[in-house]
Amino acid sequence: MVDSKKRIYPRTGDQETIYLKKVITDPNISVGEYTMYNDFVNNPVDFERNNVLYHYPINHDRLLIGKFCSIACGAKFLFNSANHTMKSLSTYPFPLFFEEWGLDKRNVTDAWDNKGDIVIGNDVWIGYEAVILAGVTIGDGAVIGSRAVVTKDVEPYTVVGGVPARAIRKRFPDEVIADLLEVKWWNWPKERIAEHLADIQTGQIEALRMNRIKEGK
Ligand SMILES: CC(C)(COP(=O)(O)OP(=O)(O)OC[C@H]1O[C@@H](n2cnc3c(N)ncnc32)[C@H](O)[C@@H]1OP(=O)(O)O)[C@@H](O)C(=O)NCCC(=O)NCCS
Repeated sequence: MVDSKKRIYPRTGDQETIYLKKVITDPNISVGEYTMYNDFVNNPVDFERNNVLYHYPINHDRLLIGKFCSIACGAKFLFNSANHTMKSLSTYPFPLFFEEWGLDKRNVTDAWDNKGDIVIGNDVWIGYEAVILAGVTIGDGAVIGSRAVVTKDVEPYTVVGGVPARAIRKRFPDEVIADLLEVKWWNWPKERIAEHLADIQTGQIEALRMNRIKEGK
């Protein structure tokens, strides 16, 4: 087994696919182990610049992405500074142009409404050119359809699509989802995941559940 933990590119000869965690420099972005990003238009290592938008340090808003997520080309995370304030009679960002209007520079963040962090669970698949808006939490195992605009939280193991994104279906029956959320295989050591990969790939939730009981965790 190759130890990919130190590598940016998990696939030999493929520079369009990266382990995202390896290229993150912004302290307000955190990405879990094995989460992958593929980009065939831009250089995938420029993810922070091309895909995390309107994300200014002054806001302290965070992008938190779990482990084993698959993020398709052109998926975007649209942060709070994109939201011109709706609390004013005008959406024009006067606080941003404080010099022009003699305003206090310290109030620059009044130009936008702050809806909070974007939180992506584990084993989430985000489709081609999907857009995730500020304040949204996406549960473990969810699937975001291509070109969806996600404006509200997404329940675990739910497939969503459209503009605005709506639930299309649950991926599994409720009891299987409950088991998966208890097992949390993505937190297992790599060797244990490798040992049970066939069970994960072929949908043997009972085998994962029994192993969890056997291991006492
Ligand atoms: C989200 C997706 C995975 C759903 O697959 P699925 O569960 O097999 O869905 P189905 O094809 O059975 O479609 C179910 C319904 O959802 C709708 N739907 C599917 N994908 C949709 C999307 N991206 N946006 C809006 N609606 C969508 C279908 O029209 C269908 O609607 P209906 O029930 O009214 O007929 C898939 O459609 C998708 O978006 N694939 C692209 C993934 C991608 O971007 N990959 C990039 C490389 S990683």
